[in-house]
Amino acid sequence: MKATASDTPRSRVCLCARRHAVLARRVMMADPCKANHVLPPPSLLKARQRQTSLTGYNSDMRCIAIAAVTIDGKIALDAGHFSDWTSPEDKDFLHEMLDKSDVIVVGNNTYKTAIGPLSKRNCIVFTASVATSERKSDTLAYCNPASSDCIPLMRKYEKVAVLGGTQTYTWFLENDLLDELYLTIEPIVFGRGLNLFESTEDVLAKFHLESTKPLNEKGSVLLHYLKQ
Ligand SMILES: NC(=O)c1ccc[n+]([C@@H]2O[C@H](COP(=O)([O-])OP(=O)(O)OC[C@H]3O[C@@H](n4cnc5c(N)ncnc54)[C@H](OP(=O)(O)O)[C@@H]3O)[C@@H](O)[C@H]2O)c1
Repeated sequence: MKATASDTPRSRVCLCARRHAVLARRVMMADPCKANHVLPPPSLLKARQRQTSLTGYNSDMRCIAIAAVTIDGKIALDAGHFSDWTSPEDKDFLHEMLDKSDVIVVGNNTYKTAIGPLSKRNCIVFTASVATSERKSDTLAYCNPASSDCIPLMRKYEKVAVLGGTQTYTWFLENDLLDELYLTIEPIVFGRGLNLFESTEDVLAKFHLESTKPLNEKGSVLLHYLKQ
């Protein structure tokens, strides 16, 4: 019998993914703590792996920006400012998120401020010092965001942690690639400095607030936004 458009392997994967999402949502409504334990069925996992290995790309890539900002919305005083002003609780959260990520995308300025800790992780560093992309080691690739190499390079991974700084967060925003944003607001003010985003374009990206969580007694608050 001839397969119809709704009976292709791809559509079966979509149907299975939708069923899994519905099941996860039901469990979450009944008991939010259990939601993470609804694993996708093995058939869906296998189908996802197949899609990845056939194309070399991961269609499930999620880009998750993680940033700490001051009350006045700054991420640093200047391009060389190391992020040593964030709370210990935010640092713990950041490390937890990076441990769960498959790759970190970071701009060269931020990479240079944190080369020690970042050199131990799998990183793609944005830089215009290469024409397209260059692999420097097993865990380090340089990529020029002006080339067409960066998105295919990132699509090899499922969980992409976007670690900034301003230029890098802005590139993801302008390219409509931000699926999630974790923002820790630290109760301090710089009075000047680098904004989270700094676009030359009019960007109207809409997010909705998924959750808020106080991180400590001092007033550090973690906000989690999802793309609308
Ligand atoms: N508070 C936080 O959560 C947080 C998070 C991350 C970073 N930061 C801070 O942010 C500051 C750095 O921010 P930043 O905006 O100056 O730099 P950045 O995004 O870290 O790095 C900028 C550099 O990356 C490359 N790059 C990034 N986007 C590019 C693009 N679209 N096209 C071409 N090249 C691109 C260029 O490297 P080349 O010069 O090599 O061409 C550029 O000079 C640091 O102080 C860091 O500590 C704070």
